[in-house]
Amino acid sequence: MKHFLDIHTTAKPELRGMVDSALSMKAARNGRPKGTPDDDQPLAGHMVALIFEKPSTRTRVSFDVGVRQMGGQTMVLSGKEMQLGHGETIADTARVLSRYVDLIMIRTFEEATLHEMAEYATVPVINGLTNRTHPCQIMADIMTYEEKRGPITGKKVVWAGDGNNVCASFIHAAAQFGFDFTFTGPQTLDPEAEWQGLARNAGIGFSIERDPLKAVEGADLVVTDTWVSMHDPESAKERRHNQLRPYQVNEALMERANPDALFMHCLPAHRNDEATSAVMDGPHSVIFDEAENRLHAQKAVMRWCLGV
Ligand code: CP
Ligand code: NVA
Repeated sequence: MKHFLDIHTTAKPELRGMVDSALSMKAARNGRPKGTPDDDQPLAGHMVALIFEKPSTRTRVSFDVGVRQMGGQTMVLSGKEMQLGHGETIADTARVLSRYVDLIMIRTFEEATLHEMAEYATVPVINGLTNRTHPCQIMADIMTYEEKRGPITGKKVVWAGDGNNVCASFIHAAAQFGFDFTFTGPQTLDPEAEWQGLARNAGIGFSIERDPLKAVEGADLVVTDTWVSMHDPESAKERRHNQLRPYQVNEALMERANPDALFMHCLPAHRNDEATSAVMDGPHSVIFDEAENRLHAQKAVMRWCLGV
């Protein structure tokens, strides 16, 4: 069973293949209107369940459109409206859904839910974000970097802000695709120790630099994300804002990066908090290409899972 649960648990050649496949599928569409079918219909006859226990714009729409472009059909399910939210076990849900559908994508809170779904499902399961990781986002980000600047191997990526789930998957990608990774943010919001250890054992440059201006020196890519994630308590907001304000990505910070550095943000963004509008809409920014590439990257992930 080929589940796509995380970047660090997927073999390097498989990840490389998915990014290359995403780039070629995008090129093959060659500017045709959004939402029109691909020439190739590898998901014809396939039903995909998209389960959301948290809100989503990009993940929901890009998976839905991606399946349809490849000839498949989708059902979008809210965790709350399913029996999942009313006491039925994940294991039973996984076994039942597997009798109906060919592929399950789930966005959930606890990583354990994803793993239980994968353990008991007899169809592939894709991680559409948990509190700990967001691998589909980073597949799109790697694709976006390479589309704009060529191979990411050996480049320097700087993450500014909260060492959250998106940051974790970026660290996994650094280990797998072989690029250097610097985290800049307050110590209380450092990436999890497990991910730091993974990066340090991967033979890449991994560092933590508290001074954001120093951190971005020589950066080929600067990345940030919301200061308060969906699973964070609302009460964390004020403290987070105070702690993270020095790590805002603004024009002064971007000026210290390499002249051709890119800026990424997975979105949704809180403009003028984690990044200024001047940066988000400025010459380094590729945020809307990233959003588009969710579509292409996830099509490649789904084809890989299904072997089609
Ligand atoms: N970046 C991302 O996953 O966006 P959504 O929460 O809108 O799906
Ligand atoms: N870190 C964010 C990412 C949203 C796509 C969150 O988990 O809310």
